Amino acid sequence: MKIDIESLSKSDFKPKYKSEESLGFGKIFTDRMFVIKYEKGAWQEPATIKKFSPVILDPSAICLHYGQTIFEGMKAYRTEDSHINLFRPEKNAARFNSSARRMMMVEFPPDAFIDGIKELLVLEKDWAPKSPGTSLYIRPTMIGTEPGLGVRPSTDYIFYIILSPSGPYFPEGFQCVKIFVSEFYIRAAPGGTGSAKTGGNYAASLLVGKEAEEHGCSQVLWLDAISKKYVEEVGASNIFFVYEDDIYTAPLTLGTILPGVTRESTIQLAKDMGFTVKEEALSIETVIEGIHSGKIAEVFMSGTAASIAPVGSLYYQNKEHIINNFEIGDISSKLYRTLSDIQYGRVDDHYGWIVPVC
Ligand SMILES: Cc1ncc(COP(=O)(O)O)c(C=O)c1O
Repeated sequence: MKIDIESLSKSDFKPKYKSEESLGFGKIFTDRMFVIKYEKGAWQEPATIKKFSPVILDPSAICLHYGQTIFEGMKAYRTEDSHINLFRPEKNAARFNSSARRMMMVEFPPDAFIDGIKELLVLEKDWAPKSPGTSLYIRPTMIGTEPGLGVRPSTDYIFYIILSPSGPYFPEGFQCVKIFVSEFYIRAAPGGTGSAKTGGNYAASLLVGKEAEEHGCSQVLWLDAISKKYVEEVGASNIFFVYEDDIYTAPLTLGTILPGVTRESTIQLAKDMGFTVKEEALSIETVIEGIHSGKIAEVFMSGTAASIAPVGSLYYQNKEHIINNFEIGDISSKLYRTLSDIQYGRVDDHYGWIVPVC
């Protein structure tokens, strides 16, 4: 793919953030973005890396009315010697195209997906924060832009990549989170769009997110849509349970959960640490009973945002169920350390997961 790099004038450069501690998530964006359009049945080369600027849409654009929007969430990690690492970007490129197929959108070539990210990162690397746990968050996005009403797949698309310097997921240090179990609202049914990273899945989660907040919880745990019995995933993470000596996480087979890159990596790391990992559905009753009997010693989430995040309690049926005295478990800590050490280049990557950029 040919990429034109537009030169920016002095006034196009934004002031840099003042402190890395106050970055938060998704609040500021770097100077440039990557953009390419799909029209007349083809990606219109050259792609452009240009000033970060609004995307102009016709008010009737398909994405605005019928939800043809997909995205990815990835991070660029700054190593101690100031290089930039990507973590398994080919997995995100593949998931992006799987989302595209489900939403009847065009696919974007995986090599171009990774090259676009790399080129943009080379230009924007000074925006990557340095403090522990920080990163340059990467958001590849595609929307259907064809104007006109009437439900149909768009003929035209824009694919773009934006970058956002992000603070640590746990600004006050690695700690347990409280999770609200959604008993009424559901996220995805078999045959639906649960395994696609598409905007509507997240819009549908907002209402129960408010309920979770009212109960002091920062995340929602979804149960399966049919029986509301089996645990599936959390708002923006997959979830694992250490039950007796084994580690359980929901299977991908029903297509109702997002196949997390961190989930797949966590399964591999846990197996290599000697654990048996079972991709089997656990019922919420088993989980609650296990929390009280002590059979469940640890619960943790996995995702790009947090990497591994320990869960301190589940709010279910009007009651908070405390896990492991709200203390971080050894397995969660070990997985968190191992994964972060690989991502930030502190240990050798035996897996070939790291793609150094610059
Ligand atoms: C619904 C959902 N589940 C799981 C995940 C975790 O996926 P990953 O590990 O690829 O970030 C995410 C994050 O993108 C998500 O939005």
